[in-house]
Amino acid sequence: MVLLPNVKNQRVGAKFRWCIFLTQLIMERDMGVISDIRYVGYAVKDLSSEQKFYQDVWKLDEVKEENDLVYFAAKGSAELYQVRLRQSDENSIDIVALKADTRQDVDALFERVKKFGSKIIFAPKNLETLGGGYGFRFFIPDGLPFEISTDVETKEIEILERWDAVPERISHVVLHSPNHHDLVKYFVDVLGFKISDWLGDFMCFLRCNKWHHRLAVLPGPPCLDHVAYDMPTIDDMFRGIYRLKKNDTDVLWGPGRHTAGNNTFSYFQSPNGNVVEYTSELEQVDENWQPTTYKPSQLVMDQWSTGVGGPKTMPALHADPALFKSAKV
Ligand SMILES: [Fe+2]
Repeated sequence: MVLLPNVKNQRVGAKFRWCIFLTQLIMERDMGVISDIRYVGYAVKDLSSEQKFYQDVWKLDEVKEENDLVYFAAKGSAELYQVRLRQSDENSIDIVALKADTRQDVDALFERVKKFGSKIIFAPKNLETLGGGYGFRFFIPDGLPFEISTDVETKEIEILERWDAVPERISHVVLHSPNHHDLVKYFVDVLGFKISDWLGDFMCFLRCNKWHHRLAVLPGPPCLDHVAYDMPTIDDMFRGIYRLKKNDTDVLWGPGRHTAGNNTFSYFQSPNGNVVEYTSELEQVDENWQPTTYKPSQLVMDQWSTGVGGPKTMPALHADPALFKSAKV
């Protein structure tokens, strides 16, 4: 039977769409949802240079140095810290911490991670890390260590103004994987991320909230590619570039504007070789968003194409040396 588009049927249609939407919400809640990125923990060979970089040049705020760990907060984030540094014999990733909103989400996500067969570092428990909370740690299939946590202590958010030129918060984390299609499937099926867009079949942009991407996956040896930080405005990104240049840290690639996410970008390298990005104007999406597969080209990768460098000027990739090894902190 064909439903005629009268007022009554429009109301039924609206109710039906609401039912589907609410059912999806309930299903997502049952599977547990990740709501944001909390922090990235790095092990670095030269702690003092990295510490100075994040404090004086990148302009995060050092909030604590305790038990050989140094913590940095971003002014515009409620997270107590978004970067954690540790002195080590090699440069590696200690942890990528993701946020869940409730203990039920943490438990549900743990069940899914366990059922998938991921190697567990520890099951959900009260955390002893700075800020406490409740969470678990595991290795994603390629071996990078992740945490999912909730109820972690938070701080006041500072409202930033144009020309403050300091990072507001972590915007996104980009990973490489020798099995990047499988890793995308893992983030979608196991951790509940949604695909926002693809660039060719080699770069996938994934979201866990209103922002176009909080995570992206590329082919390559298993490692972190870069961590990006939102700047309040495009002017703040450019003034940030100026500050980094004055401190002998020139742009590796940029300034430019990507097509997927429509965000501006400028990539740099920290003293220990970690790639970091200032970005701005990342677009927001809603539940009606339909993914696009963009055909890679110069003007798709960088809609301005007036900056320096390109993907080839980014540092050579190496597998993270600490895969499947827990930092225990
Ligand atoms: Fe990025």
